[in-house]
Amino acid sequence: MPTNTSTRLNGQFALVTGASSGIGAAVAVALAAHGAAVVVNYSHDEDGANATVKTIADAGGQAYATQADVSQEAEVQKMFKQAIERWGTLHIVVANAGIQVDAPFLDMTLEQWQKVIDVNLTGQFLTLREAAREFVRRGPQPDLSRALGKLICMSSVHEVIPWAGHVNYASSKGGIMQLMKSTAQELAPHKIRVNSIAPGAIATPINLSARDTPEEEKALLTLIPYNRVGDPADIGNLAAWLASDEADYITGQTIFMDGGMTLYPGFADNG
Ligand code: BGC
Repeated sequence: MPTNTSTRLNGQFALVTGASSGIGAAVAVALAAHGAAVVVNYSHDEDGANATVKTIADAGGQAYATQADVSQEAEVQKMFKQAIERWGTLHIVVANAGIQVDAPFLDMTLEQWQKVIDVNLTGQFLTLREAAREFVRRGPQPDLSRALGKLICMSSVHEVIPWAGHVNYASSKGGIMQLMKSTAQELAPHKIRVNSIAPGAIATPINLSARDTPEEEKALLTLIPYNRVGDPADIGNLAAWLASDEADYITGQTIFMDGGMTLYPGFADNG
């Protein structure tokens, strides 16, 4: 996957949840390409996580894979403890792990609702909290980073675009918006930066069913003024920049990276 390289994250330790595939894998690879050592978290897909680690190692980077279900407090705490024992600390944490369990609203079960909220929203809370605790415990390292630590939430265009048939998912992403902003407000005095990336349609397994025939891809592209589906590396490179000192004055923001999906393309020739 195409990824720029630089030394802007040299000497920093990063953790990316849900890095066994898709956007998480691309973010892990990009952080490593910019010099960070990366903990590659996965929930079920050990082979995928090992492939991410191998991609990083083959490019000369440092990474290891670790299993944890981000919705389980004890598993998240264990993952952070291990990372800190191994590497001493963390500087960049990307709360990326997320799932879709789609169902029409009238048929959505409590289990379908709860599962998505647990992984996508509670999982990000637990990840952010453990990370922030470690940043505060460790204290400043100004030679490595102006900020005490950098937190990035993986949101979605669906933090603002309503999505019928995906009410649990859209609700989780709307929740991530306030999780991110309120956390950013509270942690800014500690010099911890908290931001979100809100991807549109990126070519990953999560949306394969929306683009695996030419007709579906054509329908999807009507929602994207820039007329291409995003590449996971687009998001990876943004995450690497957002975690760097070049973005040191950005906190509490959602950066949409969506080829214009949030520009309400239906209004281009209507309304
Ligand atoms: C979803 C994808 C979808 C995209 C744009 C993402 O958050 O996970 O399935 O293609 O939003 O609708």
